[in-house]
Amino acid sequence: MEIIIKPDYQAVCEEASAIILRAWKKKPNLVLGLATGKTPLGLYERLISLHKSGQMDFAEVITFNLDEYFGLGESHPQSFAHYMDSHLFKHINMRPENIHRLHSRPEDIEEHCRAYERKIRSVGGIDIQILGIGKNGHIGFNEPSSSLTSRTRLKALTRETVEAAASLFENQEEVPRFCLTMGIGTILESKTILLLASGEDKADIIARAIEGPLTAFVPASVLQLHPQAKCILDEQAASRLVLKDYYRWAYETKSSIGVGPR
Ligand code: PGA
Repeated sequence: MEIIIKPDYQAVCEEASAIILRAWKKKPNLVLGLATGKTPLGLYERLISLHKSGQMDFAEVITFNLDEYFGLGESHPQSFAHYMDSHLFKHINMRPENIHRLHSRPEDIEEHCRAYERKIRSVGGIDIQILGIGKNGHIGFNEPSSSLTSRTRLKALTRETVEAAASLFENQEEVPRFCLTMGIGTILESKTILLLASGEDKADIIARAIEGPLTAFVPASVLQLHPQAKCILDEQAASRLVLKDYYRWAYETKSSIGVGPR
């Protein structure tokens, strides 16, 4: 894993958008895996401004979203479909047919999940997968105890995740208990993974994911197995890492000899 520590949230988003821009320049039909939540919002703002300033064209870009609430309906304001439209897609020139997402109410759940995996494979796999991290260590909605080789599937949300979502719902009866999510095995097949984390409330789980044992109890710890996983953290999220001075030194030294992040 490459641990990149930045002074603040804005710098985390800047670093992630710079990595995506560099990759897109080499491959205009870049395949991006996208996450929702608070963390990637600043990254999406930057991608929008790269587009508006003419530095990045999304006409050939292909996206796959990580997850979706089950049963909510895509037009619901808390659905991830709605989130992606309002925070990214309606501001850039993505082709609708290049936007892929898990549906909220598929007729045949298992077939829908298998078809999603097939679609990812048919475009050559995900080049860069963006991830946030839940306070319980989930990536996507792969909650603690998810199989580390899991594929896209229906998953029950933990009470903690349901409670975190509940504040965003006016009607508590609508708060979803289930989701569809890419599996951990699916995520691990992405060529590059960018995990973004910001803030003191992520410091403990970041330390467990990066420096703790590999365990299904902390699903993000599986990124220790990935050869191109980069964790881009602000100072607060990095504050409990034992080796943070080493990570900082390694990143700065590599940049100075021209082998920094690509
Ligand atoms: P957050 O969510 O970005 O809103 O903190 C992250 C997650 O739960 O994956």
